[in-house]
This record gives sequence, structure tokens and C-alpha cells, in this order.
Amino acid sequence: MTNIDPTQKKKFSFNRLRRLRMNENLRSMVRETELSSTDFIYPLFVVPGSGVRREVKSMPGVYQLSVDEVIKESEEVARLGIPAVILFGIPEKKDERGSGAYDDNGIVQQSVRALKREVPQLTIITDVCLCEYTSHGHCGVVRGNEILNDESVGLLALEALSHANAGADMVAPSDMFDGRVKAIRSILDTNGFEKLPIMSYAAKYASGFYGPFRDAAMSAPAFGDRRSHQMDPANSDEALREVEEDLLEGADIVMVKPALSYLDIIRRVKDQFQVPTAAYNVSGEYSMIKAAGQLGWIDTERVMMEVLTSIKRAGADLILTYFAKEAAKILK
Ligand code: PBG
Repeated sequence: MTNIDPTQKKKFSFNRLRRLRMNENLRSMVRETELSSTDFIYPLFVVPGSGVRREVKSMPGVYQLSVDEVIKESEEVARLGIPAVILFGIPEKKDERGSGAYDDNGIVQQSVRALKREVPQLTIITDVCLCEYTSHGHCGVVRGNEILNDESVGLLALEALSHANAGADMVAPSDMFDGRVKAIRSILDTNGFEKLPIMSYAAKYASGFYGPFRDAAMSAPAFGDRRSHQMDPANSDEALREVEEDLLEGADIVMVKPALSYLDIIRRVKDQFQVPTAAYNVSGEYSMIKAAGQLGWIDTERVMMEVLTSIKRAGADLILTYFAKEAAKILK
């Protein structure tokens, strides 16, 4: 007779968790986190000229592109099912106040107009910052050794409006000055762009992982660093204050950056606010994997997918990543 005893305490001395790992079908049935190409935002670096396609030395597979090449690249991005790109501009000339950033004929503004015409199905996000446009490489106006907050915020608002006028679908302030989301929201609203979303780099850390990006965007600071506005890597509660502030000021999507050393921050932000959360898998995180892969020390594809999955598992809804095209090809 079978002994059925529903009240019986645990019958076995241990559980066999391996049962559901025995083949790929079972593994896929119980998989909690699934990546999709619609999770990705692909960063693009636009330079003046035409026919320019210059590989960034420290970022294999990433290029500085002229507007015509940005169009070609974006067509491929759209074909791969990636919904959005984020544009960074490298202007012809830089000056003290970064005037190329809010010039209606600036490099990003030209790119946005061309992209909206040629690849209308793609969502065009623009990075709003001054560091690529200032001669000193700082994210705002500098007086003596100080990076000024309120004066810089005024210029960032002008930059965001100029991107919106060119046709951008979303703006993404990446400076970390206080009050910039509010200033951008107000200038957009008073100019008829009340439906244009803002993705704020809300918890952006002063990180060594941005090194290769500064090659790509030619935006390394000529003196000093960004520690007076970007966050101290040691802080976590402060990230929640930054995010809360940006949400109160009108941010629609909040971003944590970098991603990998800050997976705990992504999780805290998601748990606390339950708002659309993005994570930036930054240049250094990309280059390390590429470099180790080139040396034959790791399997690049496998590590790439593992890293992207970990960012999503931590709570990110969206991932800005230089791996977007490669990962989308695998997911197809
Ligand atoms: C600032 C900006 C930076 C990145 C994105 N926006 C660099 C910085 O703060 O120095 C870094 C992105 C990356 O490393 O991939 N405009």
C-alpha cells in the first residue's frame, strides 16, 4: 500500500535542485531573466565630415562616424530590432562655454534631423552634456577651479531644447549638476515639448570605467576631474536621493551608471521607486571584455551575454551598451 501522508514532514533529507537543470528545455522553462533586443539602447559617436568611419582604439568594434555613416549604422541597428540609439557629438570646434552643444546646426542637431528623415522607426535619444564641446573638457562652465552649477544648467537647458527642435525623441542629461532635470523640463514644456521624455543619468558615479569613452568622445578633462559633481563610488543611500530628486523634477526614466560595479544600486533603485530604470554598461566595461577576449583569456560572447543578463536581473529595464548589435544578433 502506498503511504500517503499529507501531514508528513519533509520526506527527503535534501532537495535535488539539479533536476530542473538537466537539459536546455527545462532550463529555459524555469529561466527568470530573459534578454531581448528591445532592452538595448545603442550609443553612437558622431563626427564632422562625410564617409568617416574611424575605429576607437580602446573600443574595438566602436567607431566615430560622420552623419552619412550614422545613417547606415542606424539602419542596421533598426534591422536588428534595437529600438533606440543615443547620440554623442564631437564638434568641429570647442570653446570655453561649449557653444557647439546648443548650436541649432551643431553635429548632434544635424544627425537628429538626418536620422528622423532616413530611419524614422528608430527612437533618437540625445546625450545632453557640455564635456564634448568645451575646450577644457568639463561638463559645464568653469571659473577658476570651480565647475559652476546654475550657469551650466542654463546652457544644458538650451542644449536640450535645441535637440528637441531638431526632432529628438528623448533627451538624456548626463552632467550630474543639481536642478538640471527641472530646468530642462521647464524649457521643454514652455516650448511645446511637454510630451518629450527625459531619461536622466540620475546616479552617475565618478568612475575610472569611463576611460575609453573619453577617447571616443574626445572629452577628457584638461585639468582636475569630475568628482565635484559625479557621485562617490562609496555611496549608496545618496544614489536614492539623487534618483528621488530627478523624479520629483520630472525625469521619466532614471539611469544608474556604470552598471557592473553598481548592480546593488540598480537593485535598490528598482526596489525603492518601481520606475523605468536604465543602466549604462559603460566603455571600460566593454573594453575589458573585448581585450580579455582578444587575448583568448575569456569567451567574449559568453561573458557579454552573462554580463547583460546580470544587469537585467539586477533590475534594469533598459541597458545602454556597446554590445547591443552583437547581443541582438545572438538573440535573433
Ligand atoms: C558625459 C558622459 C560620459 C559618458 C557618457 N556621458 C563621460 C563622463 O562622464 O566622463 C561615459 C560613457 C561610457 O564610458 O561609456 N557626457
